[in-house]
Amino acid sequence: MTSNIREMSLVKSLKDIDVEGKRVLIRVDFNVPIDSHNNISDDRRIKAALPTINYCIDHNACSITLVSHLGRPKGVYDERYSLVHIKKRLERLLDKKVEFVEDFEKSKDEIATCSLERVFLLENIRFYEGEKKNDKELSKKLASICDVYVNDAFGTSHREHASTYGITEFVDTKVAGFLMMKEIEAFSKALEKPVRPIALVVGGAKISTKITLLESVLPKIDKLIIGGAMSNTFLKALGYDMKKSLYEEEYLQTASQVLDEAKVNGVNVYLPVDVVVTDSVEHPVDVRVVPSQDVLDGFMAVDIGPATAKLFSEAVELSNTIIWNGPMGIYENAKFSKGTFKLASAIGDCYAYTIVGGGDTADAVEKCGEASNFSFISTGGGASLELLEGKILPGFKNLDKKEAI
Ligand code: 3PG
Repeated sequence: MTSNIREMSLVKSLKDIDVEGKRVLIRVDFNVPIDSHNNISDDRRIKAALPTINYCIDHNACSITLVSHLGRPKGVYDERYSLVHIKKRLERLLDKKVEFVEDFEKSKDEIATCSLERVFLLENIRFYEGEKKNDKELSKKLASICDVYVNDAFGTSHREHASTYGITEFVDTKVAGFLMMKEIEAFSKALEKPVRPIALVVGGAKISTKITLLESVLPKIDKLIIGGAMSNTFLKALGYDMKKSLYEEEYLQTASQVLDEAKVNGVNVYLPVDVVVTDSVEHPVDVRVVPSQDVLDGFMAVDIGPATAKLFSEAVELSNTIIWNGPMGIYENAKFSKGTFKLASAIGDCYAYTIVGGGDTADAVEKCGEASNFSFISTGGGASLELLEGKILPGFKNLDKKEAI
């Protein structure tokens, strides 16, 4: 077993404790996309937290306090990021009244007083400067309004913040929620005892953000499929002239090393054989498909081409475990989304265990209607990446541990 996953799976879960009559504080990740009219465009993260919240309600917790961040405010109130925008949707999904708490310090006594079956939703915890600084005082204040701390914010579990990490120092009972356990189980299945061959599909903008991942998983996988702008750096390292394409000059040597490492580990590497190129990302006038070695002057690669989509699809088809992290192109623009969507459909059709790291890849899979064809879609972008990199996520670190068997 990969040691970080083994260690994280040893934490106690909500099922291991008794919440009856207790004041339970649950750190959730309600960091969902909200448009300028305050519409929630994707509520998967809210839905993913429901089993934990409902379990506490069903097992007679005397009060439940939900703590989350939303967006990246600068440590002060900012209406755009208020969690009040989440309240209605949460009430609808829980089918229960939720009390919104603007200032938990002012309402501290009311929250701290046991009163059967009340559900509180605190205002964005990142409106407090101390949250991101993992401030002890803020951690203590949060701890003072509960008897039990449940971390169910997998998407934020790679952050060492007051509500995800610091608080554990001041609460006696601290456990993981069901989403946290589900995420760990899913990654454990893909990495611990995978059915081979195992393929890792990586994409996204930069090799620099995925280098630790590549170094960590190369000895464990059979195939490495590389797309997105990060494949430009690999192609450039192989001597192709990528013209205006985005690539990382300072990572060319790293890319060559990854290819060498792959060879040493017997990993088959797949790179784009053709690419979609454009004269401009913002205002594309000329969009064409060219072989990877023939990118035109003044053009940049923005998606994998049809031959590559076919090649990658065949490579995943012959795999039994597939881990996907990072889109194949600028999928947000319909002109450059075909490669990502074709691959999503090919992976969705596989008779394999298929797991998607969260963030952009999860969004792309959802947008093209393939989400239900995947075995597991993580709710964490950065968190799933760090988990795959072999790190122990801070959100798991100080939770109570099960007795060793
Ligand atoms: C996410 O959306 O990845 C998580 O909610 C963490 O958000 P952050 O990157 O702003 O810490």
